Amino acid sequence: MTNKLRYFVANWKMYGHLRSLNSLNKVINFRKKNKKAKNLKIIYCPPFTLLHAFVQKFKNSNIKTGAQNCSFLSSFGPPTGSINASMIKSLKCDYVILGHSEKRAKGENDKIINKKISSALKNNLKVIFCIGETILQKRKKMTKKILLNQLNKGLHKIKKKENILIAYEPVWSIGTGLVPKCEDLNRVISFIKIFLRNKMKFKNPKVLYGGSVSPQNISLLRKVLNLDGFLVGGSSQNSKKFIDIIKKTFI
Ligand code: 13P
Repeated sequence: MTNKLRYFVANWKMYGHLRSLNSLNKVINFRKKNKKAKNLKIIYCPPFTLLHAFVQKFKNSNIKTGAQNCSFLSSFGPPTGSINASMIKSLKCDYVILGHSEKRAKGENDKIINKKISSALKNNLKVIFCIGETILQKRKKMTKKILLNQLNKGLHKIKKKENILIAYEPVWSIGTGLVPKCEDLNRVISFIKIFLRNKMKFKNPKVLYGGSVSPQNISLLRKVLNLDGFLVGGSSQNSKKFIDIIKKTFI
């Protein structure tokens, strides 16, 4: 096992019923058997409807839970269908994913994301802040510019940087089976970390990769040594595949 701390975040997106909880037993047993692996962090982000049940299920198992979004409003209020950070925290969740491209595509802009990050941190949630370029932006060689813009605006006036994980998720790799070449990924992750350290005053920036991570490509992705973990969508909905990804990273 590597000594480096590695995060494995399962983003279940719009997937799962209460009956899906049974499939988590495999992961709980896996975590128990690897109790001493302090450098291994597993975090599940199910839909809101399953958050409470997941927290209960993971009691005493050293697996953390997170939401997939939250309102930018910190107080109770009228927006029907919204859930704020304090409501999430009150369930004993620890994390929230913000800035996901699937939300950005529906109109969430950097300013709103910035407010959400601020509200989440105020309510003592840790933030998994997603950034990434589209295929068009990549073709136009705008990746760095886009990432800088998202980081600058999303993290504007944000403190508590130690409670933020960055997830680099190229939009073109999400759900497509495509992943960046290792050397390209390594370059982008270094670029993000240098920026976070030098310009954003992060002491120890942590950056995850997300986008089509699977048991098939993890042996390659794990070679990108400056990564601190993975944000896994589709493959995390199958416990066997998710465990496989974790095992192969640590072999
Ligand atoms: P996939 O792993 O299904 O490509 O999804 C990645 C993602 O969006 C995780 O947040």
